[in-house]
Amino acid sequence: MKHRLPLLLLVLGAAFLLASDAPKYSYEDFESPDDCGACHQQIQQEWAQSLMAHSFTHEWDAIEYFKLALPHALKEPKVAGVKEGCIGCHGPLAYLTGDIPPQPPEKGTRVNEGVSCEICHNITGSTEPVPFNFSYIIQPDEVKQGPRKDSESEYHQTAYSSFLVSPELCATCHDEQSPYGAWVKSTYREWKAGPYAEEGTRCQDCHMHRYPGTSALGGKERPDIAHHVFHGSHHENKLRGALDLALYLADDTIARKKELELTVQVFNGKAGHYIPSGSSEERMVWLEVSVTDAKGSQYPLAVSPKGFDGEEFTIADPEALAYQAMGEIMEVADFKGLPRDGDVPAGSRIFRKPFFDPQGRMTICQWYTANNTRVDYRVGPRETKIERFRWAVPEDVPVGEARVTARIYYSQVPSSVGRYMKLPPFEYKPLLVNENTLTFQVR
Ligand code: HEC
Ligand code: HEC
Ligand code: HEC
Ligand code: HEC
Ligand code: HEC
Repeated sequence: MKHRLPLLLLVLGAAFLLASDAPKYSYEDFESPDDCGACHQQIQQEWAQSLMAHSFTHEWDAIEYFKLALPHALKEPKVAGVKEGCIGCHGPLAYLTGDIPPQPPEKGTRVNEGVSCEICHNITGSTEPVPFNFSYIIQPDEVKQGPRKDSESEYHQTAYSSFLVSPELCATCHDEQSPYGAWVKSTYREWKAGPYAEEGTRCQDCHMHRYPGTSALGGKERPDIAHHVFHGSHHENKLRGALDLALYLADDTIARKKELELTVQVFNGKAGHYIPSGSSEERMVWLEVSVTDAKGSQYPLAVSPKGFDGEEFTIADPEALAYQAMGEIMEVADFKGLPRDGDVPAGSRIFRKPFFDPQGRMTICQWYTANNTRVDYRVGPRETKIERFRWAVPEDVPVGEARVTARIYYSQVPSSVGRYMKLPPFEYKPLLVNENTLTFQVR
């Protein structure tokens, strides 16, 4: 019940201020997740386990903003908007209060609250018909936007919001267009074009599971409370098994000096969007295949090219350099670039969507992306990718049982970039998504 009247006045004042460029709100207009947690204890604990609670403090986010995006915004007029743009999604409280650039995480200001309760539950819509780029309309007030029509709280008012329960809520931050007009994040648009949208399976259905219980102290017993854990690729166990993997051999017995033919199928049966999705500029999913002979020697195999346009970006090449823009932004003399594919073994198939800067060089700077439509070789929702490999059986290979192993790995950031930017190793370590083995006889 506290401060209902003053807040209402504030909202009116704020609507007035919206016309100018002056900061719209102050930090005090938003309650902290701890305040909400006094009654919504479970939901607060779930949210604290989600990446959205760390959207400003998470190491790579802070490093990319303060070491790359912010300095770039200060010297390149075309990207000047990212100074506040990054914050519109990663630190909405600072964006809404005009605290730009915000203090770094170690200063402990309220920007650290990230995508907090007060953000999602005060959003009433978007200024865009198909939302993107933090185009949310927000009114921090007493009325919490919720999914139910029968909920009551003495502390705040509640209102049913069809926007809150729609994937368009997520689209306000999960889809992004660069200053050059490239769609650099398109999880919502991928979902919309895929089978799950048609079937009516929302983002919320896969990322906010249900449990029986109460959502608040004094709340009603309900069979289907929406959890707020929001796990994605940053949670290894959500990722593991997200892609299915099957192996096929043309023959189960092969003679020396002959060629073994192998087919691998990779299937996305769990995600409602591409894998990888989100920050596609820096994500790699790759398929590593090797043969192990009867004595334990290993032979890595290279994928057979299919011949599509831009395929060179989808086959690991330890010699290829990229990411030159990073050196320019940080003013590193004679920066030649970094290994494009990090430590991915040569010849592995990489499921990725490469981004190119205005000079045509591959980049992980999504705000500095002029084009990313050259090739998109990620695995779409319910799509199967079929890859072929060949092994020329060496003359001296021991006879007996050999095996072929295929593994799918995922990395958030190329290891070359991770090491160069001194990220904590967990940010770029390869995560095993799936693994399979078949045996055959060499005679
Ligand atoms: C004093 C206790 C209390 C506090 C503090 C509190 N709430 Fe609630 N809230 C409730 C109760 C009780 C309900 C009703 C639950 C039900 O109907 O099952 C509720 C319901 C909700 C709902 C669901 C509305 C709907 O339509 O289903 C939302 C969203 C919500 N609160 C958000 C918040 C946010 C955000 C904060 C912090 C700014 C907050 N609450 C703080 C007690 C509280
Ligand atoms: C990223 C956006 C987002 C954030 C952040 C968020 N919520 Fe929610 N919340 C939702 C959505 C969406 C739903 C409705 C899910 C559905 O039913 O479709 C929801 C549902 C709820 C409900 C009703 C649950 C039910 O099933 O009755 C409560 C209460 C609630 N949230 C409180 C909170 C609190 C407290 C926080 C912060 C600790 C928080 N939310 C953070 C998006 C968010
Ligand atoms: C106000 C902006 C905003 C809204 C609204 C929002 N998100 Fe997010 N979300 C983010 C940001 C920013 C991150 C990334 C945090 C980071 O990188 O540290 C994120 C991360 C995530 C992740 C974790 C991804 C991973 O790699 O592990 C999931 C899952 C997610 N959001 C789902 C949703 C869903 C579902 C909705 C709608 C119900 C939603 N988000 C609404 C901003 C938002
Ligand atoms: C059919 C279930 C399903 C639906 C629908 C779905 N997701 Fe996901 N999502 C997953 C799974 C499984 C993963 C883990 C695999 C991965 O990271 O790609 C995931 C991962 C993610 C990630 C991390 C992506 C990455 O590669 O880093 C984000 C962000 C995300 N989802 C947001 C959303 C949003 C926003 C929507 C709605 C527009 C949505 N999801 C709809 C199942 C789903
Ligand atoms: C339109 C909203 C939006 C804007 C603008 C935005 N981001 Fe993000 N960012 C997200 C979302 C959502 C994710 C999580 C998607 C995923 O899981 O890949 C994300 C992920 C990231 C990640 C990846 C984290 C990881 O662990 O791999 C980094 C780093 C990042 N953003 C930095 C930035 C910087 C720097 C800017 C400004 C140049 C920026 N973002 C602008 C929404 C946004």
